[in-house]
Amino acid sequence: MNKFFLNLGLQPLANNYLSNLKVKQKKYNLNLNFNTKTKLVSISKRIPSKEMFNNKYPYRSSISQTMTDSFKKLSLEIKRKFNPKILLEIGSNDGALIINFNKNKVIGVEPCSNLANITKEKGFKIFNKYWNFSLARRIKKEFKSIDLIYSANTLTHISNLNEVFSSITTLLSKDGILIIEDPSLLECIKKNAYDQFYNEHIYVFSTLSLVNILKKFNLIIFDLKNLETHGGSTRYYIKRNCNTNINIKQNVKSQINKEIKFGLNKFSTFKKFAINVKKSKYALCELFKKIKQKNKVIIGYGATAKSTTILNFCNINNKIIKFFVDTTPDKSNKFLPGTNIKIKKYNPKFMKKVDYIFLGAWNFKKEIFKKEKKFIKNGGKFITHVPLPRII
Ligand code: TYD
Repeated sequence: MNKFFLNLGLQPLANNYLSNLKVKQKKYNLNLNFNTKTKLVSISKRIPSKEMFNNKYPYRSSISQTMTDSFKKLSLEIKRKFNPKILLEIGSNDGALIINFNKNKVIGVEPCSNLANITKEKGFKIFNKYWNFSLARRIKKEFKSIDLIYSANTLTHISNLNEVFSSITTLLSKDGILIIEDPSLLECIKKNAYDQFYNEHIYVFSTLSLVNILKKFNLIIFDLKNLETHGGSTRYYIKRNCNTNINIKQNVKSQINKEIKFGLNKFSTFKKFAINVKKSKYALCELFKKIKQKNKVIIGYGATAKSTTILNFCNINNKIIKFFVDTTPDKSNKFLPGTNIKIKKYNPKFMKKVDYIFLGAWNFKKEIFKKEKKFIKNGGKFITHVPLPRII
């Protein structure tokens, strides 16, 4: 049974950056639920994929060094450990992972044509389609079966998990490996990172919930790795559970125990989280108020989808945050959804006239701090809301 635990207010589509403020944006109530049986956390309002993932999707995986390094490292591991004949990536975005593979050994699935075209133009085989049963059947006709399927930050964006996993099992070879990675619910709750929730993130997986989902499809997690990407993600290594001796690594059991110890199996944990989120909102607003009373200039850094949740939930406008900087080409000169805050193309010169920077991309703190050494040396300060609103 789904039990409601938090309302994050009326939220526009998180990646729908506006060219001008006259456009009226649709907003949807962002309600979070906990399923007492499967332990799955999800949002209740499901927006059709076509409204969110289309030819204007701005997010680019290759934009940060942290992500390109992470994908490069993974590609080396995949080649060394599994050496797949063919790798299929669901949600290949702008090709951050697949460019590390031989063009004859990799297939991408990417519904956003602006992104799919980037890798198509480089000569990769890309299906510019949504991941579903009919696409899986089409790929099966052409390739028979696939021995490694990979997907990062994509499956949690698709409402029908039954279709997602039955399509995967249609295509995965008998001994095939499925690797998926997504933000970790444990890290999200521990860090009070409520901005992990927005309309695209229909689910935030815990290991507990994923085990329950995979069971239905006779799939089993045999290894996992906790990653720093996206503020704390988990990469799962999955196979068919064919009753032969599957060597399940101890870290899978340890992770489940850690989650149970933290209370991810209990509704009361999420009620507590809801209280902490409201406290966090109040503390962040107070922090901004105090800084503005001193007439200091605050800008935002990294116009993330996550920022949309914070700005709309905390009612933050351009009187508080003057503008955001971001390196993504498709975000430049647009406005953060639901706000009147403009996004400017990143230019290091901006930092000279700024006192405080709100870390929209807090998950890239290390990379950003490295880049902004000068700002820090000159007494500039950062503001973050994780795990608590504070000045760094
Ligand atoms: P990210 O946190 O990956 O995602 P989401 O939108 O899913 O919340 O987005 C990071 C954003 O921050 C992206 O728009 C690029 C931007 N960015 C910069 O502008 N400069 C940087 O140095 C880094 C690392 C990211």
